[in-house]
Amino acid sequence: MENVLKIDKIEKYYGNRSCLTKAIDNISFTVTNGEFVAIMGASGSGKTTLLNCISTIDKVTSGHIYLGNKDITELKGNDLNKFRREELGFIFQDFNLFDTLTAYEK
Ligand SMILES: Nc1ncnc2c1ncn2[C@@H]1O[C@H](COP(=O)(O)OP(=O)(O)O)[C@@H](O)[C@H]1O
Ligand SMILES: [Mg+2]
Repeated sequence: MENVLKIDKIEKYYGNRSCLTKAIDNISFTVTNGEFVAIMGASGSGKTTLLNCISTIDKVTSGHIYLGNKDITELKGNDLNKFRREELGFIFQDFNLFDTLTAYEK
């Protein structure tokens, strides 16, 4: 089966030397075409951090994330903009909609 998503030894730290939080501690997994995946865990276990890194909202501290054959942790500038515009869909839990605008106006 073709890999849609490959998470390769990623770590994510927040903060600095004096106050460091390790939110993701060296995880790896793959998702294949057609798989339906739910991420479960206690509050504070890193679910949002993981999704933010997969969706390019945030950057990993180390490791790589591949969507299809593309290493999205290496994307920058216009390549990153193009990727977000053309290849990524994201439905936020709280929608983040503008009450005063229609979909067309946005
Ligand atoms: N922007 C941030 N700055 C510092 N620490 C953060 C930040 N976001 C999340 N954390 C910390 O990272 C850990 C994982 O948080 P999070 O990914 O929000 O977990 P979950 O979504 O599973 O509840 C928690 O210890 C949280 O306090
Ligand atoms: Mg969360």
